[in-house]
Amino acid sequence: MNPIPTVPRVVLVTGAAGYIGSHVARVLRQRGETVVTVDDLSTGSALRLDEPLDLRLDLASPEALGELEAVLSGCGVTDVIHLAAMKQVGESVARPTHYMGRNVGGLVHLLTAMERCRVEQMVFSSSAAVYGQTTVPLVAEDHALAPVNPYGQSKLIGEWMTENAARSWGLRAANLRYFNVAGAGWPELADDGVANLIPIVLRAADRGEPVRVFGTDLPTPDGSCVRDFVHVLDLAHAHVAALDHVRTTAGARAFNIGTGTGTSVRSVIEVAEAVTGRSITVIEDAPRAGDPATVVADPTHAYRILGWTAQCSAFDAVDSAWRARTGVRGAVPV
Ligand SMILES: NC(=O)c1ccc[n+]([C@@H]2O[C@H](COP(=O)([O-])OP(=O)(O)OC[C@H]3O[C@@H](n4cnc5c(N)ncnc54)[C@H](O)[C@@H]3O)[C@@H](O)[C@H]2O)c1
Repeated sequence: MNPIPTVPRVVLVTGAAGYIGSHVARVLRQRGETVVTVDDLSTGSALRLDEPLDLRLDLASPEALGELEAVLSGCGVTDVIHLAAMKQVGESVARPTHYMGRNVGGLVHLLTAMERCRVEQMVFSSSAAVYGQTTVPLVAEDHALAPVNPYGQSKLIGEWMTENAARSWGLRAANLRYFNVAGAGWPELADDGVANLIPIVLRAADRGEPVRVFGTDLPTPDGSCVRDFVHVLDLAHAHVAALDHVRTTAGARAFNIGTGTGTSVRSVIEVAEAVTGRSITVIEDAPRAGDPATVVADPTHAYRILGWTAQCSAFDAVDSAWRARTGVRGAVPV
């Protein structure tokens, strides 16, 4: 009997030169998938890529639609993982139209090109920011969606767009709502930004500078904010699981990608002190406006439907980020 012919898979990864996209692209290649990379290098770096960038393109630019159609059909793309976006909350408040133009405009071009080229599978980088103010200990996907800044709004609009495309032309999509992404799977792919807590704390440890803790009297065990830190390598594996899911399942669904375990800001600082062997001075500050006390994922849905669960702890995230910062090479085992 002849074997059933299989379609060769080619995955377009947008934002592949970024912190998360570079981990996703490497994990896909390690799995034997063919990967095509697109990025405008606005915040990413080509040095993160294992192979030369296939297409340098701003997805929101006027020429993007034609270029995307050419790459989708020319490379025989079968699936898309869409990570390219601007992600700074504060900047999104200051430049809301710019953020909508980049994040939503880029997705308009991408989905239009996918529909025209009949590329019907997508994994979309969403965010826990779609929930806005959360008041429950564990946030499930059916929690109210009320983003409190243009960045979160752009992610929610993106989810609506994939749902509409699923209804109108049969897109199969997974909207992955990442919680606080941290750590490094490989030192050279580390997060080089300083907008997130763990890089901020490690930079402070490195330089002997104090760290500001916003909110010290909140209704949490130690009074500081509690967040869910998911290791970037776990997150990359979640994309692989989501890709397998959309290849076989109709519709568009949202999945929380978090550990289900909260870690307070003070605990992160303690872990950083243990990992770095340095003491970190804390400056207590008022809570930031609109910052919920606790944001922790209920990841049950991702486990039940995707078979994915986080393997790493907040300690692993801090440890791998510190090893990346201090130049210790080699993969972090997961
Ligand atoms: N890092 C987090 O904690 C976090 C949490 C939730 C969601 N996300 C989402 O994950 C995705 C990746 O985030 P990251 O942390 O890797 O950020 P990043 O800035 O490192 O990566 C984003 C990449 O997209 C590229 N890019 C941005 N806009 C583009 C455009 N218009 N056209 C082409 N390329 C463009 C950038 O050059 C960069 O390489 C984003 O969609 C972000 O919103 C990140």
